Amino acid sequence: MTETITLTHHIAGRERAGAVGFEQRNPAAPDDLLIRGPQADTALAAEAVTSARGAVATLEAAGIEARADALARIGRTLVANVDRLALLIARETGKTLGDSRGETMRAARIFDFFAGETLRNVGERYDSTRPGATVEVDYAPVGVVAAITPWNFPIAIPAWKIAPALAFGNAVVWKPSEISSATAAALMEIIADSGLPDGAVNMLLGAGPAGKAMLDADDIDAISFTGSQATGDLIRAGAAARSRRVQLEMGGVNGLIVMGDADLDNAVECTVNGAFFAAGQRCTATSRIIVEHSIADRFIDAVRARVSALKVGDPRDPAVHIGPLAAPRQKELIARQVAGLENNGMKPLFGGAAQPLDHCFYAPTLFDHVPVDSQLTHEEIFGPVAGVYRVGGFEEALQALNGNRFGLSAGICTRSLLYTEQFKRRARAGMLMVNLPTAGVDYHAPFGGTAASSYGPREQGRAARTFYTAIRTVYQKPL
Ligand code: UN1
Repeated sequence: MTETITLTHHIAGRERAGAVGFEQRNPAAPDDLLIRGPQADTALAAEAVTSARGAVATLEAAGIEARADALARIGRTLVANVDRLALLIARETGKTLGDSRGETMRAARIFDFFAGETLRNVGERYDSTRPGATVEVDYAPVGVVAAITPWNFPIAIPAWKIAPALAFGNAVVWKPSEISSATAAALMEIIADSGLPDGAVNMLLGAGPAGKAMLDADDIDAISFTGSQATGDLIRAGAAARSRRVQLEMGGVNGLIVMGDADLDNAVECTVNGAFFAAGQRCTATSRIIVEHSIADRFIDAVRARVSALKVGDPRDPAVHIGPLAAPRQKELIARQVAGLENNGMKPLFGGAAQPLDHCFYAPTLFDHVPVDSQLTHEEIFGPVAGVYRVGGFEEALQALNGNRFGLSAGICTRSLLYTEQFKRRARAGMLMVNLPTAGVDYHAPFGGTAASSYGPREQGRAARTFYTAIRTVYQKPL
């Protein structure tokens, strides 16, 4: 029997129902779970922003200890509910149970980390150049932050936007993806029970138009967005026109260089993890594997053997390594992109159209002998699809690596100190990985890319304060 979950918006501490505006089914087993949610419109969005505006003052009055306590409480509640939340994430988005648990724990640690940061919002004091006067610098709240989050990390990405926003005294209006709204609602419930004032976090549900309705509202000070390039470009233009602070994370077509001197087993692990785990649905995933000729054949054989040992299946089965794509529309998109490559004469070594799977499942797919000017170089494929680029040596590898307009994450597998140092200096990306997969980042270090991948200040770690605070400089002369 199909379980049906009906969701509501959450505004000013209250649940708000609405007509069904979207549906999401378990992408591995559509008859298992049906999620239905309402679609926010401009009137509701305006109400949510007004509620958040009111909460900015309440948050300030509550003080930093109350905010730190609330964030720590959210972290503890996430840990206490990890099994329930992980199962929901797996059923809603198709993420494997192991990954879903790991992600829930990561979200808990993010709330914990920012509970501490709440108490560490340190300012500065200077002597003024004017004798007797002083200059104080403090880091004040920005105000109302609009957060738009994707479905691929349905609990960790909301955590790394909402936790720092609250830590530094901002209120939030949050529009999660319609593909992961049940997970969002579960997190919202935990936030609502944490002791924060009503309206500190408001959640508007719906697809793209709900996000647009939110950003059309007056009185938003800052926007933090993770999602597609096309939507990010629109948000940046709108934010610039309205003088709003903006932070965008828009993915990439990340490259991993495998040099001839690499530890082969580790290079295979990095490749398979980066390209195919989480069904390739990470903005940090490896799409381009840039391999030195000398080991290319051996390397590809080993990748093929490793992939054939992976179990693709229901993400609720703990033995499964790779689950489905998150929704039918994602599968259609990826099938279209792969067909485009195949029509241009590229044949995958495995996977692709020759290996069709049920429901939203898509087989790991690897192309070989990819030319540097291929579509694969320039267009993100948000699925388990990657290509091997064969190169003659380090310089050619680096040139291929830097050969597109993105720059989120880049990796190298090598035992050479010289290549490592050159890579660290010359690879064009915000996150550089040496003998590690391009995906998989820590929560206490800055996260973000360069070029077309990212815009605005970094997320996560102590660096998050830059976006979520406004510097205030106070000149004072005692009289
Ligand atoms: C990771 O690689 O651990 O949407 C995190 C994404 C990124 C997060 C990646 N913003 O995939």
